[in-house]
Amino acid sequence: MVVLSGKELSSSVKQQVASSAVKFEKRFSRRPCLAVVLVGEDPASQTYVRNKRKACDEVGILHLDFTFTADITQEQLMMCISELNANPLVDGILVQLPLPGHINKLAVTEAISPQKDVDGFHPQNMGKLLLGRKCLLPCTPKGIMKLLDYYDIDVRGKNVCVMGRSNIVGKPLSALLMQDGRDATVTVCNSKTADDSLFTRSADIVISAVGNPGTLKADMVSEGVVVIDVGINRVPDSSKKSGYSLKGDADYDSLCQVASAITPVPGGVGPMTIAMLMENTLIAACWREGIEPEDLG
Ligand code: GUN
Repeated sequence: MVVLSGKELSSSVKQQVASSAVKFEKRFSRRPCLAVVLVGEDPASQTYVRNKRKACDEVGILHLDFTFTADITQEQLMMCISELNANPLVDGILVQLPLPGHINKLAVTEAISPQKDVDGFHPQNMGKLLLGRKCLLPCTPKGIMKLLDYYDIDVRGKNVCVMGRSNIVGKPLSALLMQDGRDATVTVCNSKTADDSLFTRSADIVISAVGNPGTLKADMVSEGVVVIDVGINRVPDSSKKSGYSLKGDADYDSLCQVASAITPVPGGVGPMTIAMLMENTLIAACWREGIEPEDLG
């Protein structure tokens, strides 16, 4: 059984980005720059944003931090984004999700300039992804594909079951998997699927992106399955100083007995998402300067 470590791969991706960021600064006399926008006090979002800012510091990407209380108006948030769109020194804009209920998430996503949309959530980038055209790709799906490539797990002709059809993970990931050249046969389950195990059992690869611990159990899969666990769930744990521990969607201990490979939580998909955000910011910066990252040498 292989543990698919996102820690190891993400640190090599970040090293690569760091060396490219140095070359970028030499050539353009400025560093790539990411604007990180956080609205509200959701503890998980605060942690994610802290980790994203930390990663920027590690790789030498500048970050501009914007933190707003949950009562910010739609107009104020839109104004912030429009200023960031117009700021020539800003290469990437990240608005951490979820947003408070009164904010129109779609309008915010669409307000971000597609050229600066390092999350790849803008309809223009989503549309290009579906068509297999060059674009900024959503970080978690991109990180999963990179992890599969790194561990030589070929999806061509394989049955892949994606659990969850979110705009952030399930939908873009299923598009990437079925793309020309990737050629996976993809099934996407959702919360109304009558019997997930009907699909997970015939899958060579199961990717769970539901956000619910215990979604995937050993009796739902076949021997030799590859499990990619996207869930990062906080479960109460009195033995921890924080009062919680992190659990994936998959029942790790029981799945280890039947799987040929599995991502741990933490240390699997999570670090890949952040590494891909760094890579996307560098790509956005290069494209804005009219070059490809490879041109940096
Ligand atoms: N919330 C959960 N995942 C993500 C992500 O990849 N990007 C943003 N902006 N918010 C998220």
